[in-house]
Amino acid sequence: MIFIKNAWYVAAESHELTGNLLGRTICGDPIVVFRDSNGAPAALEDRCCHRHLPLSLGKRTGDKIQCGYHGLEFDKTGTCVSVPGQKRVPPNASVRPYPIVERYRYIWIWPGDPDKADPSTIPDYHWNDDPNWISNSGYFHVQGNHQLLVDNLLDLSHVQFVHATTLGADGVTDAPLHTYRDADQVRIERWIMDKKPPAMFATAGNFLGNVDRWQLISWTAPTHVVIDAGCANAGTGAKDGNRNEGITVYSNHTITPETNDSCHYFWHHARNYRLDDTELTKFLANAAQTAFGEDVDILAAQQRNIDSAGRHWEGIDINADAGVLQARRVVTKMLEAET
Ligand code: FES
Ligand SMILES: [Fe+2]
Repeated sequence: MIFIKNAWYVAAESHELTGNLLGRTICGDPIVVFRDSNGAPAALEDRCCHRHLPLSLGKRTGDKIQCGYHGLEFDKTGTCVSVPGQKRVPPNASVRPYPIVERYRYIWIWPGDPDKADPSTIPDYHWNDDPNWISNSGYFHVQGNHQLLVDNLLDLSHVQFVHATTLGADGVTDAPLHTYRDADQVRIERWIMDKKPPAMFATAGNFLGNVDRWQLISWTAPTHVVIDAGCANAGTGAKDGNRNEGITVYSNHTITPETNDSCHYFWHHARNYRLDDTELTKFLANAAQTAFGEDVDILAAQQRNIDSAGRHWEGIDINADAGVLQARRVVTKMLEAET
């Protein structure tokens, strides 16, 4: 399995961790994530050092995890601290701990070299817990490689075809695309001028006529995508910075590799207008859930065909792939550096 391991990935949404033990495979590693009695998150290898039962099948005893098979107990550093029926704990009885940080209503984990884990490099997703924004979030388990999902988000020409009833509207593929690359980041920008708004934006912004529409994508390696998306009444100067006659939605995504052909997809949609409008919140949450579910189906179908195609699966490239190809180049370099 090939993954960039020296990177922060989302292991879970904050709300997924209560008093439970959450077992999740991340970059091929089985990992158990939990909170200690103070609510601080911890992550350990989800494989008991005795006979390899997943620790996530055991239970929490105070700040420790007790394996559900023969009762060995581990503290949150992964050290085995007690063995039933004997006083002495065998030397080297431990499981691997992982660096972990809670930020932006996400639990971030570093599956690589722990000495390289620097929390200041966690990508910015402040929209998900900023009081000036209201954010709907969700999770999908995807039966496709994480890079396919990154590709999907970096080439939004697909919205016209995959999301015809939600995010899609005519005119996307005809609008010019600009791509910029900077170290481990790629930006892809598209303005769709004086066209009908897509269904989701038409309802969310009460637009009666044509709009100027933007899709400003920022990708940070390896799998973090922030999309500043919105519409304003056509001709009101949104492209020059005046968004007063428009609405903005930050459509943010972060993807965590699971195996070679599956990944964890965390998304949130944040807006900074009509914050108290719970009906609008529900409407946008449903629209996003529906739209991203469409992507998840596409990715699974793609992965099945990739698996049956063997070595030569990549196919041809088209103009809309500009950002995808830039990002893949960055990933290739990072993988080479790691291995
Ligand atoms: S497998 Fe965990 S205690 Fe035996
Ligand atoms: Fe999509």
